[in-house]
Amino acid sequence: MKNLVISTGAGISAESGITTFRDAGGLWENYKVMDVASDEGFARNPALIHRFYNERRKQLLEVEPNAAHRGLVALEQHFNVNVITQNVDDLHERAGSKNVLHLHGELMKVRSMRHDDRIYTLPSAELSDKGLETSVDTVDAHGDHVRPHIVFFGEAVPNFDAACRLASQADIFVVIGTTLVVYPAAALLQYAPKGAEVYYIDPNPAAVPPHVHVIAKKATEGVAELIQILTNK
Ligand code: OAD
Repeated sequence: MKNLVISTGAGISAESGITTFRDAGGLWENYKVMDVASDEGFARNPALIHRFYNERRKQLLEVEPNAAHRGLVALEQHFNVNVITQNVDDLHERAGSKNVLHLHGELMKVRSMRHDDRIYTLPSAELSDKGLETSVDTVDAHGDHVRPHIVFFGEAVPNFDAACRLASQADIFVVIGTTLVVYPAAALLQYAPKGAEVYYIDPNPAAVPPHVHVIAKKATEGVAELIQILTNK
């Protein structure tokens, strides 16, 4: 089976009802990114950051994967599929994707501030708060405070090397729903091998090199078209 590597951004979850970041009405119009998604912001006002991610977790529970997420699962019948996502939602997993690598962390997880590898999926019986909400007072069974398992601006992207390895083995590389402005995620495209077929689905696509086949449509329609193209060969 050919290796199909798919890199997704906020746009793939837009039709599920999750707000993107930089579109009109996007999250970064209503919040200062450096307050709620940076290492400095967390140091300055951790309570605000806990509240922000509690809110987004609540929103995530109210939405469902859409036909684009499900379409990527259907492609697993034809290809060895790996999804690399900048999204912190769990909609790829809930749709049934087998291999999902999160570059910017996961909304439903928090981790110990003392031991990075102590990661808890909410709700967790191992935390002092048993629900989906955490605060500056939430501690794990070791008495250590926890923080959102999110990669803040100013922090390293621990899964980037693994993502580059996947991208470099792609026979087909697909980018869906991202402005391609946040590095290092945006650079993944450059790791796809020279001979790989490359597709980019986005209703408002960023400028990309000429070898990239642009499908300027919403994710649900674009993925349906992609499935046609890839499975009719
Ligand atoms: P952006 O909000 O920057 O971009 C969303 C992209 O989705 C745009 O290119 C839109 O044109 C496109 N889009 C909108 N509706 C769509 C639809 N129905 N179908 C397909 N595409 C659609 O989001 P990202 O590029 O994912 O990082 O942002 C990257 C990172 O910036 C995020 O992971 C987040 C943010 O700051 C962190 O929080 C660390």
